[in-house]
Amino acid sequence: MPTLKYYGHSAFRIQDEKHTVFIDPFITGNPVCPSKVEEIRACHYILVTHGHADHLGDTEFLAKKHDATVIATWELAMWLKKRGLKVHPLGAGGGYEFPFGRVKATLAFHGCGADPREDGSVPPPNTPVGYVVQWGKTKTLYHAGDTALYGDMKLLAEDYDLDVACLPIGDNFTMGVADANKAAEWLKAKTYVPMHYNTFEIIKADPLNFAFHVEKHGAKCKVMSPGEKITF
Ligand code: NI
Ligand code: MN
Repeated sequence: MPTLKYYGHSAFRIQDEKHTVFIDPFITGNPVCPSKVEEIRACHYILVTHGHADHLGDTEFLAKKHDATVIATWELAMWLKKRGLKVHPLGAGGGYEFPFGRVKATLAFHGCGADPREDGSVPPPNTPVGYVVQWGKTKTLYHAGDTALYGDMKLLAEDYDLDVACLPIGDNFTMGVADANKAAEWLKAKTYVPMHYNTFEIIKADPLNFAFHVEKHGAKCKVMSPGEKITF
């Protein structure tokens, strides 16, 4: 059974006995993350939803240290490749079978530029996506990335029995609680995990408002504290 660990913001790790996969590993500089990136002991793949600093995060450090492969959309993947990383490019709507399971890049409506980083480098404009991860063909997780609510999320419920859906609720840059609640009604996941909130003042949100509505519709909501792990 895979475990899901939350590092705060939109950063997660999925792990079983064989595979360790990070999603949007924003560890360093993440004000709510209790871990240090140097403490991370295993990393085989990293899924990056888009090039904003709060998602690309420690991708380069982790990928280089652990010889991990980065899965990202084309422009970002090619840029990371030039910087010496192993990459696997995916396009929105495309999926591929990896050793840990199948990954499909889903639509996400969000910005695509990126700010200069500490070393002066600037990621290129890139297509933002979310990911559906069919872990070992047994468990399915949807990480929405940074996105607005959009009607085609309904299609994910037709194609997948989602065990877990991680949805942004912080408003301002992404869906807020009301839109995330609507997404949750559509996605029909068993368990929802709110993300992308309370990291910074501008994305303050009450996850209990999200949880209340989700549970009223018969699904589970797991409000994960940074550092917490669940089995799914
Ligand atoms: Ni973003
Ligand atoms: Mn973000």
